Amino acid sequence: MSIHTNKKPITLTTLGNLKKNSEKFTCLTAYESTMASVISENGVDVILVGDSLGMVVQGHDSTLPVTMDQLIYHLECVVNGNSGSHIMADMPFMSYSTDDLGLENAKRLMQAGANSVKIEGGEWISNMAQALSDRGIPVCAHMGLTPQTINRIGGHHVQGRDPSQKEKIINEAIALEKAGASMLLLECVPGDLAQEITSTLKIPVIGIGAGIHTDGQIMVVHDLLGISCLDTPPKFVKNFMEESSSIQDAIHRYVDEVKNLKFPSEEHTFK
Ligand code: KIV
Repeated sequence: MSIHTNKKPITLTTLGNLKKNSEKFTCLTAYESTMASVISENGVDVILVGDSLGMVVQGHDSTLPVTMDQLIYHLECVVNGNSGSHIMADMPFMSYSTDDLGLENAKRLMQAGANSVKIEGGEWISNMAQALSDRGIPVCAHMGLTPQTINRIGGHHVQGRDPSQKEKIINEAIALEKAGASMLLLECVPGDLAQEITSTLKIPVIGIGAGIHTDGQIMVVHDLLGISCLDTPPKFVKNFMEESSSIQDAIHRYVDEVKNLKFPSEEHTFK
């Protein structure tokens, strides 16, 4: 399988076709222009301007302090460096707590250059997903471990391990697709649950700590470069710098390993 160089912009259609053809796609976070340009030039399909910026850029211990203005500043930096990757922007904590607020904030992100927005939650975000999608804004629903609810969850725990939680996640994923979500992101769920959801849904499913069977993979770029902000990086993280001579090489290796089903392996997957 060859690595494309993002000459043609990556759209939702591109991602949908990759899913249909059972080809994997890659996503990485970026927060500024130089890294965005290295990422897009090395064939990464989707760049997420994630609210993980609260942790890896701002040094907070959660994503909660990130504001809309900060997210937009980093999004604009990424847009300036991008050369054809699909840019997804996170909607920060409480920026979609009501429909009106969500619509206004999503408008700001799209006008700043995002191609889609990501919101965290289960069935409760389906109205928001529908309202945004009806207005032409592609939505990625982030399920499983949702860092914006870390205080309620009580820690970075794997989600969907017990049968009732598993069934709830599957039903909510189906409801979100019906409501109009264009993509789903699953964080920290057992590999077999991610596999079931990926094969049930028609929309592309992206995984982080969700095993090899999702349509796409995502990583926080700092984790890939071995400079995780956590003392002990999570099980699903792989430091691609260990075998690489440059940042470009590490990103290229990540793309290659995802596309060729070498990453994530069993050691990065929750049972
Ligand atoms: O904000 C972020 O970087 C994310 C990824 C962990 C998926 O949501």
